[in-house]
Amino acid sequence: MALVPSYIQRLANYAPGKPISEAQREFGFEKFIKLASNENPLGPSPKGMEAVQYSLNKLHRYPDSAGYELRAKLAERFNVKIENVILGAGSEGIISTIMRTFLLHDDELISAENSFIGFRVLANASGRRTHWVPMKNYRYNLEAIAEKITDYTKIIYIANPDNPMGTTISRDEFDRFYKHVPERVLIILDEAYYEYVQDSPDFPDSMAYRYDNVITLRTFSKAYGLAGVRIGYGFAHHTLIENLMKVKEPFEPSFVAQAAGLGALEDMEFLLKSIETNKTGMAYLKKELNQLGVMQIPSATNFITTVWESEEKANNLVQELLENGIIVRSLKGFGWPNCIRISIGLPEENQQFIACIKEIL
Ligand SMILES: Cc1ncc(COP(=O)(O)O)c(C=O)c1O
Repeated sequence: MALVPSYIQRLANYAPGKPISEAQREFGFEKFIKLASNENPLGPSPKGMEAVQYSLNKLHRYPDSAGYELRAKLAERFNVKIENVILGAGSEGIISTIMRTFLLHDDELISAENSFIGFRVLANASGRRTHWVPMKNYRYNLEAIAEKITDYTKIIYIANPDNPMGTTISRDEFDRFYKHVPERVLIILDEAYYEYVQDSPDFPDSMAYRYDNVITLRTFSKAYGLAGVRIGYGFAHHTLIENLMKVKEPFEPSFVAQAAGLGALEDMEFLLKSIETNKTGMAYLKKELNQLGVMQIPSATNFITTVWESEEKANNLVQELLENGIIVRSLKGFGWPNCIRISIGLPEENQQFIACIKEIL
């Protein structure tokens, strides 16, 4: 159809981790363990849920388009001014706003090849040229990314830690890289897994050093268990935020999402439990997978990516696990056809996964 731009026609639909409902329809049995989408196995933050309950009788009202209360709370928590905070329908919502705000016609983007698929979808949909720089040893190759910067570069996207590899860039690496980036280039530092990695001494928590051309993105989707409600936030120089606020969808994020975020931010107990559950589950899975001789990529997140000898082996494994009621994520769609990503589950889910994979192998 001539109406649809060719770069849109060429796009493929986003393929998420298989939802439990779809697996139930396909296999005809009820119980599935989903370790496919890096969700919080504990469920949503109870305080987030409580806040949502309270918000329900105001659903006939439009939300505060400036998101004042939640932005103020985030500003206080992270020791910045409210003018430095933006909210969005997930961090992906903010990435979308960033592209609509800053990209001019000939502008180009740079990121790592086969990294976060959400960014890839949005970059491709922007119709702008994006340089996808191959990773090195399953990590962002910042030196190679710096070499790709030209007069046309406008945005560089870095997921730190990365999804689907779970690897991080170190503070030293970022500092060296930053020296090559002109001020007119915006760096998006996507820290969706920040809560799981914050204690690592090498992690360059971007809030500890603020640059005018860096925007930090974080989310309530992971450690706070609110992926379904779509609420994320970002920190940047007030001029960037001021302009993003002009472009974002006027009533994004929704009333319920803002309420959920406000509640969840108070939920220290849940946050700590999420981090602890993840830490224990990660240690268990690492140890068991090691004993089975399965190659894993060291991960700083709430998932582990495993590497198999062939695409066929990985596909068969994903299918067999599915037939046994366990949903994991084939990384073929990300560009890693011989890799499988496993999200950390509850202790009993992790144990069932290991029991099942032992049987299969
Ligand atoms: C690197 C990265 N960024 C962002 C997101 C999505 O965050 P949100 O749910 O806030 O859009 C994910 C989720 O998988 C992710 O892995």
